[in-house]
Amino acid sequence: CGIVGVTGRKNATEILLNGLKKLEYRGYDSAGIYVNDQKGNGYLVKEKGRIEDLRAAVGPTVKGTAGIGHTRWATHGVPSQANAHPQVSADGRFYLVHNGVIGNFRELKAEYLADTEFVSDTDTEVIVQLISRFVNEGMETKEAFTHVLSLIDNSSSYAFLLMDKTQTDTLFVAKKKSPLLIGVGDGFNVVCSDSMVMLSETHDFIELTDGDVVTVTPNEVEIEDEDGNHVTRNQFHVDDDASASEKGAYEFFMLKEIDEQPAVIRTLQQKYINEDGSLQIEDDLKNAIDGADRLYIVAAGTSYHAGLVGKSLFEKLAGIPTEVHIASEFGYNPPLLSEKPFFIFLTQSGETADSREVLDKVNQWGYKSLTITNVPNSTLSREANYTMLLHAGPEIAVASTKAYTAQMTAEAILAKSLGMHKRTQAAADFELGSELTKVANAIQSLVDQKDVAEKMAQKYLSTSRNAFYIGRGLDYQTAIEAALKLKEVSYVQTEGFAAGELKHGTISLIEKGTPVIAIITDEKTAGLTRSNEQEVISRGANVINVVSENLATKEDQIILPKVHELLTPLAAIIPAQLLAYYTSKERGYDVDKPRNLAKSVTVE
Ligand code: G6P
Repeated sequence: CGIVGVTGRKNATEILLNGLKKLEYRGYDSAGIYVNDQKGNGYLVKEKGRIEDLRAAVGPTVKGTAGIGHTRWATHGVPSQANAHPQVSADGRFYLVHNGVIGNFRELKAEYLADTEFVSDTDTEVIVQLISRFVNEGMETKEAFTHVLSLIDNSSSYAFLLMDKTQTDTLFVAKKKSPLLIGVGDGFNVVCSDSMVMLSETHDFIELTDGDVVTVTPNEVEIEDEDGNHVTRNQFHVDDDASASEKGAYEFFMLKEIDEQPAVIRTLQQKYINEDGSLQIEDDLKNAIDGADRLYIVAAGTSYHAGLVGKSLFEKLAGIPTEVHIASEFGYNPPLLSEKPFFIFLTQSGETADSREVLDKVNQWGYKSLTITNVPNSTLSREANYTMLLHAGPEIAVASTKAYTAQMTAEAILAKSLGMHKRTQAAADFELGSELTKVANAIQSLVDQKDVAEKMAQKYLSTSRNAFYIGRGLDYQTAIEAALKLKEVSYVQTEGFAAGELKHGTISLIEKGTPVIAIITDEKTAGLTRSNEQEVISRGANVINVVSENLATKEDQIILPKVHELLTPLAAIIPAQLLAYYTSKERGYDVDKPRNLAKSVTVE
């Protein structure tokens, strides 16, 4: 979910709607705003659907100088107008937007609100009704708010923005585990889940710490820590170019972002590779990893898939044993750790709650960590010891493309740097700069042949119910990410499978016409994968081959320019991204905002 708030601006409604539009990547099943003017007129508008639906429902009278807004990714309660935020207290005095999950909301409801009638199924309504109850019993608003916060159990996460109709220019703010920033203006202030969405209003932001409770008025930001002490928090400046998040002539961001990949790799080369070929990785970081006996990569979704590729890079170039873990699994069932572990968090957004939960534990255990992320100042970046930035520019499409290639590129850079530090032969032999240039050129030539992927998508995938990607070694890692791309944007049920393993059970799913896409870049196993293809062809499958040029035959449909064997996933994923894009488009879906998904998931 995404949150915005503003106080001290005449056009509060517009600021909230524009901010929410940019926050849509955090969820888009319903949205709402509450605004009030200084005379005490308040307006609440909520809609099921996208921000555009909300905008259409906001009439010309909905004007004010302060307000709060929310775009939702449903957790408790179906997407509906009633479950949309702001949630309101029964007396219509308090308005609350919330990102996160309240673990003990049922208990709180049973204990304190047995007689209250609820209009929604949300955990958030319990909190706003509870605040109202304590105010009716004589507490001040702020006091009631902090009292309710103290009743919320430890498993919970929240970013709250509360308004009290009787204090028209005050925003009450609280944060624990969910991201939230205060944007500082001249005679006004804003609150937001992500600085990017408020850059049109301000470039200066205050980062909050978990447990902070903040009172925001047009001219003041008053922060109290968990124990009620007045504190100041770090302020930082963001000068990202907001125009980088415009779509331009593209129909969808996903295609724009696919096309940007060669440029992203070149940017990473410029940022991390010096003219003499040496690498810009801090000595501190290298030394910290040098002391480690094992790397633990922790990530979710596409970033996890980039981690799987990272394992080969770190093991082969730097000789460091590496494990890759799904964040939500690691968090509660950690493996037996080595004596000197070092943690690498891969996260495009830097905000994924599952990953953050693990980082929290790693910090408590006292181990060192690095976050590789696209978002400077994001939560995981702030809370790890080291940060390596992806410099990919804002990724707007929910399905990740350029962040994935950027993550693998960053891992290659880090692995080479660590290998040089450890003086491994493999790192010395690996000519990173020129190999990355080859990759960027290969990607360029693949994105220049979009029509090939478009035709394949139309022919094989536009009406099929399911599909498979198969491969061995790194091609298997690519197959898993390729399958995720296709299923998330086109809803074709797709599995990425180890080519040799298909015959041990899953081959029973192959029917006449089932598309099977084979990725073949590894000379050692090309023949074996081709035999596995024969097994599915004999059972009626339609096979599409994505093959490195040095291994290709005349019958192969998509040819990949040859790149270094450790970097093949960077090229091999491109046709898969394009197939996913065109299949989704062919089926008439909103490619950038697939159903049920959010780009940044800030709940566990
Ligand atoms: C969400 C997105 C995925 C993404 C995952 C991890 O589920 O829909 O595309 O890969 O989160 O996100 P992160 O920002 O941590 O890389």
